[in-house]
Amino acid sequence: MKGIEQRKAEHIKVSLEEDVVSAFDHWDDVKLVHDALPEVDLDEVDTSTVLFGRKLSCPLMVTAITGGHSQGERVNRNLAEACANLGIALGVGSQRPALEHGPRESYEVVKEYDVPLRIGNIGAPQLINQKNKRAFGLDDAREAIDMIDADLLAVHLNFLQEIAQPEGDTNAKGCYDGIRSLSRELPILVKETGAGISRRVALRLKGIGVRGLDVAGAGGTSFSKVEGRRAAKMGDRKCMRIADTFGEWGIPAPVSVIWADVGLPIIASGGVENGLQAVKGIVVGADCAGVARAVLKEALESPRAVEEKLGLIIEEMRIAMFLTGSKNVRELGNAQHIITGATREWASMEKEV
Ligand SMILES: Cc1cc2nc3c(=O)[nH]c(=O)nc-3n(C[C@H](O)[C@H](O)[C@H](O)COP(=O)(O)O)c2cc1C
Repeated sequence: MKGIEQRKAEHIKVSLEEDVVSAFDHWDDVKLVHDALPEVDLDEVDTSTVLFGRKLSCPLMVTAITGGHSQGERVNRNLAEACANLGIALGVGSQRPALEHGPRESYEVVKEYDVPLRIGNIGAPQLINQKNKRAFGLDDAREAIDMIDADLLAVHLNFLQEIAQPEGDTNAKGCYDGIRSLSRELPILVKETGAGISRRVALRLKGIGVRGLDVAGAGGTSFSKVEGRRAAKMGDRKCMRIADTFGEWGIPAPVSVIWADVGLPIIASGGVENGLQAVKGIVVGADCAGVARAVLKEALESPRAVEEKLGLIIEEMRIAMFLTGSKNVRELGNAQHIITGATREWASMEKEV
């Protein structure tokens, strides 16, 4: 296996086998107020929504996980079949391996399924020349979109991961211009990968025509920890130390949803493991919730396993809607809630950042 493919496979293995999750569950600081008299039939709760012009059965998506290596095709096939059956959105993992040289089948498989909203993926660090590596431009972005007939292309921001990676691309100068150039021509969603998006960054991205934001805030998979475990296996003490120091770095996911609310569609993600957390994301301002780690194990198993897990999350979302007296997703946006603890303190800083 070549370097990048091997790295992608290791990310899955490490994420499944090691403790790479944030020590804090920031969603726990968001409390929904119980409605003891909801005046709604659970069976009539309408979870459907429209996101980026596409009708979804529920405001839920599986965010980017993988592609480009031997397991990638199985993962994307299993995810695509389940998302199509359930009528929810799907993002594929970084398409860099396919754009650079590799086989495309592991991404192209998602076209075989009727997924209502498909999202491609490339990394912001690849939009500029890194240590003499070729930068991706508009043609590559178009190719990534065509590869899966994507409705949107996600550009991921992952500099926390890059600093903790022995082979990391740590030059961020020019990425903003790179995203601007793509946004002029293509529907671009910007996503983080576990460290969150601040209000300042959200406003800068809105200013250059980005269509939406997936906050991927802190609280779930920590890519600093993932890279730290890989560094340990390679005996790279410097990266192990850096990964450890920055293991809890990032803007808590619920705070990032609140801060990044600048008038663009928002995906609440980062540590969403169940339907109650997904609903909390929507109550604090998102249009949809996103999960990655929550379906990782199932994605390696079968479409059935993924569908069952996502089905449970959707059922929990419906129950949380019922218990807050929300008949539909619009009403859910107005559900009563309180924010406690450190998350409340972060959120109160909104005006300063
Ligand atoms: C094994 C693994 C691989 C990932 N690969 C990508 C990727 O290629 N591109 C990307 O934008 N995000 C990638 N992510 C990040 C997720 O899309 C998500 O933003 C992050 O894991 C936080 O969500 P979670 O706490 O639900 O896992 C990956 C996550 C995991 C667990």
